[in-house]
Amino acid sequence: MTKMQKPTEMLSAEHQNILKLIAALEKECGALESGKPIDRAFFTKAIDFIRNYADKFHHAKEEDILFVELCKDSVSMHCNPTEQMRHEHEIGRGFVKGMEEALNSGSRQKLIENAQGYVQLLQEHIYKEDNILYPMADEALDAQMQKSILNEFGNAEKKRFAKGVKEKYIALAKEFGKRAG
Ligand SMILES: [Fe+2]
Ligand SMILES: [Fe+2]
Repeated sequence: MTKMQKPTEMLSAEHQNILKLIAALEKECGALESGKPIDRAFFTKAIDFIRNYADKFHHAKEEDILFVELCKDSVSMHCNPTEQMRHEHEIGRGFVKGMEEALNSGSRQKLIENAQGYVQLLQEHIYKEDNILYPMADEALDAQMQKSILNEFGNAEKKRFAKGVKEKYIALAKEFGKRAG
């Protein structure tokens, strides 16, 4: 029998796609700081990726499914950090809104500040999830619960993303990865 994928493994794989965007964003901020004009097409794609893939697709699985399970009384997880993770998702949404406003008004400094804020927040956030929260979740959830979370992840994907949309964002992540070099 093949080993069942853990829900946290699925989420960590999604982090790898998000990190490609983060790397491209970091590089673009460096270029902006050295005087490169604002690349509107890039930032528009980056914001679309964050809102749809990182937030609607990935953060929703955490907030609506995994974190909910971890907070159930039947799951004894020591020092439950999901509130902090939700809070960081909210801060991230603020940075994205700031990036969008900066893009619309053509404000370079505001764009750099919000993009860099998002980069730093997400780098730390993903590190904490991959190295602290997910291992805690793996410990706390038995095989049956993990299986049902995976099923819910699958249903959430179908409900939120039409056929082919996930693939579109994975291709976009690859593009970001190439851009980051
Ligand atoms: Fe998260
Ligand atoms: Fe995450």
